[in-house]
Amino acid sequence: MEINGKTRTCGLIGNPVEHTLSPMIHNTLAELLGHNLVYVPFPVKAGQVAQAVSGADALNLLGLNVTVPYKSAVIECLKEIDGLAGNIGAVNTLVRTAGGYKGYNTDMEGLYRAMVSEGISIAGETVILLGAGGAARAVAYLCAVKGAAQVYMLNRTLDKAQAVAGEVNRAMGREVICPMALENYTMLPEGKYLTIQGTSVGLAPHAEEAVITEDAFYEKVGTGFDLIYRPWETKFMQLTRAHGGQAYNGLKMLLYQGIIAYELWNDVKISEEEAQVVYERLKGQFV
Ligand code: ATR
Repeated sequence: MEINGKTRTCGLIGNPVEHTLSPMIHNTLAELLGHNLVYVPFPVKAGQVAQAVSGADALNLLGLNVTVPYKSAVIECLKEIDGLAGNIGAVNTLVRTAGGYKGYNTDMEGLYRAMVSEGISIAGETVILLGAGGAARAVAYLCAVKGAAQVYMLNRTLDKAQAVAGEVNRAMGREVICPMALENYTMLPEGKYLTIQGTSVGLAPHAEEAVITEDAFYEKVGTGFDLIYRPWETKFMQLTRAHGGQAYNGLKMLLYQGIIAYELWNDVKISEEEAQVVYERLKGQFV
C-alpha cells in the first residue's frame, strides 16, 4: 500500500505494546479491502492516557484500540460509551464521532463472534466460568447479556466471585451468575458444560499449569474455551481434550475483537473468508 496524503491512521495505545498482534490484523484487513489505512502501536506512558486520546483527536486519528493498563482509565476521556462496555467498565476500542471518541468493548463481542464461528452457543446454555478477575467478570456480563440460562462462576477466592455475581445479577435483574469456590465443582449437577477458562493460570511461561487439574472436573467439560492463546494449546485445553471434549484457544477472540473494531471504524462488514485469511496469518505466529 502506498502511504500518501489521504492515508488514514488507526492505532493501539497501551503499555507495553511491543508484542501486539493488532497491527497484523488491521493492516491485513486494509490490504484485503484495498483501504488506504495504516495501523500502528503507540506506547503511552503512565498517567498520559488523557493526553494520548486528546492528541489522537487533534491528529484526526480514525480510531484507537486500548490495551493494558488503560482499558478502564480511558473511560473518562470519552464522549460516549456503548452499553455493554459501560456495564463491564472496560473499553478496548475508540471510534471517532463528531465531538470526541465513543468507547466500545469489542473483546467481549469478539469472544462471542469467535464462539459463533465455532458453532458454540450461549443462549439457553448452562456455562462454567473459571475465574472472577477482570477478564472473567467481562465474560460473566457477556454470558448474561447473550442469554445464558445459568453461569457457575468458580474462583479460588469465593468473595470475588460473590461480588461479581451480585453485581451482574443486579444489573441483569435475574440470578444468572452462581458464585462457587473452585473446589466445589464436585457439587455441579451431572452434565457436559460449555466451560470458559478466564483465569490467568496457564499463561506462558507457566504453560504447564491449569487452574483445576482433577480428572473429575474435566468429565463435566463438553466444550472448553480458553481465553489464553499463548501457549497455543494450554494445559486446560489438553485436559479437556484428554476427556473427550472440544477445546479452543483465545486466538479467534483476538481476531474478532480486531475485526469488529475495523468494522466500526470503516463502516464495513468483514466476510468469513476475509476473517479466515487474517486468522491464518495470525496462526503463523504460533504454529
Ligand atoms: P485478568 O485481568 O487476566 O482477569 P486478574 O483480574 O488479576 O487478571 O484475575 C486473575 C484471575 O485468575 C482471578 O480469578 C484469580 O483468582 P483469585 O480471584 O482467587 O485471585 C485467578 N488466579 C490467578 N492465579 C491463580 C492461581 N494460582 N490459582 C487459582 N486462581 C488463580
